[in-house]
Amino acid sequence: MFITFEGAEGSGKTTQIQLLADALRLRGIDVATTREPGGTRIGDGIRSLLLDLTHTEISPRTETLLFQAARAQLVDEVILPALAAGRVVLCDRYADSTLAYQGYGRGQPLDALRALGAYATRQLTPTLTIYLDIDVVAGLTRKRIGAAAEWNRMENLEIEFHHRVRAGYLAMAAQEPARWLVLDAAQSIDAIHLAIRTQVLELLGKSS
Ligand code: TYD
Repeated sequence: MFITFEGAEGSGKTTQIQLLADALRLRGIDVATTREPGGTRIGDGIRSLLLDLTHTEISPRTETLLFQAARAQLVDEVILPALAAGRVVLCDRYADSTLAYQGYGRGQPLDALRALGAYATRQLTPTLTIYLDIDVVAGLTRKRIGAAAEWNRMENLEIEFHHRVRAGYLAMAAQEPARWLVLDAAQSIDAIHLAIRTQVLELLGKSS
């Protein structure tokens, strides 16, 4: 089963992925965790190109293609083999991030992004996408306090951009409610974890 996590910087995705992975492993479930952009040697190279604060001249199309290129490598090298081996794959960001950031955020045409995404992913769609929804200002503040060193080019974009990204996520979730689980990231870590764990165990046909 393939599960993706989406959310703004500072929404607590990384913490929740770790908690879910631990909870599933405790129940004897074989879990693989990975992240975008990156997760492979090629993808990590692309990641440093994309997030470098000095790369201000990057064109939105170049940015889009680089995210899709990192994704294609991750799908072929990590995600598809893990799924074929029967593992549950938890991925920190996936194709919906490109729709949210480059599409809704940067104004790249959604149809073109969907077509590129289908090519990059071999049309692999997650069974479940967990969106941790957080107020834009609260999220950026959390991330700034948490890890100043990780402040990257995407987060440096103007606040309006982040509002468009959030609205995009909420629109996508509303269009496809069966795939998306939207959770308020202002809740406690435990409450969010419980909601995620309950839904995932139910999908896996296990009792909590
Ligand atoms: P990262 O440090 O991994 O942030 P986070 O902890 O929020 O995942 O940085 C990834 C950044 O790249 C983040 O700002 C979102 C952005 N991004 C896109 O713009 N498009 C994409 O397709 C992906 C995967 C990420």
